[in-house]
Amino acid sequence: MAELLAVRDLGKRYGRVVALDGISLGIAEGESLAVVGQSGSGKTTLGRLVVGLERPTAGSIRYRDGELAHRSRTRAERKAIQLVPQDPLSTLNPSRTAGANVALPLVVHGLPRGRARLVELFDKVDLAERFVDRFPSELSGGQRQRVAIARALATGPRLIVLDEPTSALDVLVQARVVRLLERLRQDLGIAYLFITHDLALVNSVANRVAVLYRGRLVELGPTDSVLRKPQHPYTRRLLSNVAVVDEAEERLKPARPDDEAVDQEFA
Ligand SMILES: Nc1ncnc2c1ncn2[C@@H]1O[C@H](COP(=O)(O)OP(=O)(O)O)[C@@H](O)[C@H]1O
Ligand SMILES: [Mg+2]
Repeated sequence: MAELLAVRDLGKRYGRVVALDGISLGIAEGESLAVVGQSGSGKTTLGRLVVGLERPTAGSIRYRDGELAHRSRTRAERKAIQLVPQDPLSTLNPSRTAGANVALPLVVHGLPRGRARLVELFDKVDLAERFVDRFPSELSGGQRQRVAIARALATGPRLIVLDEPTSALDVLVQARVVRLLERLRQDLGIAYLFITHDLALVNSVANRVAVLYRGRLVELGPTDSVLRKPQHPYTRRLLSNVAVVDEAEERLKPARPDDEAVDQEFA
């Protein structure tokens, strides 16, 4: 697989707060890379840097052959890398219909935005035409998230950053959204940077997993090996907190290293 995005030694400071430090990772064409870590570990910051909402204070972000880190993006680059933001409620403009929300990137980028195009985008996320005219407040959480995904798809992106796309949803709705995302990735060949604090999700959404701890990348590998043989004590701690379904699985879980042991690793 060709490399689509490559991040090298990426750093971001907010004043004295080091949100990200020395992050290097790549995403291949059509690949789904999960980024996991507890709250405050820098996941959202990484996503915002990748889509260009903020500039890094160090390092490089290459998309195909272009270095993006320290300049404004071209229109094509902005179309190619889209974001589904963290908070599904504040994501959509409540005073506009779902259709108008999805049309916004089409307007911004001067793309065709007729009814037929909107219906087509809604259909991609399994929403019938009638939802085009609904307001966000008239939609369920899962429907709102699918509208947010349709909006991200509108510009024909090659990479979508999904920031905790299912964390506000209950388990069954979450499973539907995950299946939808997986189907879209297969049909359209889009790559994902899939941000989540929920390791239980990773198995069904990612080819590889990157683990962030206090702004640093502590583990990166194929999903199977990271879940089965976590190398880093922090990853083992995250895994030991995952809710499990049966005893057999419970026995397979690594012992829970205490927080102090993990923190000492970084002292
Ligand atoms: N705009 C900002 N100003 C100051 N500090 C910030 C800002 N955004 C994030 N941070 C800090 O950067 C760190 C990483 O935050 P974030 O990327 O939101 O983590 P996560 O998404 O993993 O919860 C946190 O310590 C957070 O407080
Ligand atoms: Mg976040």
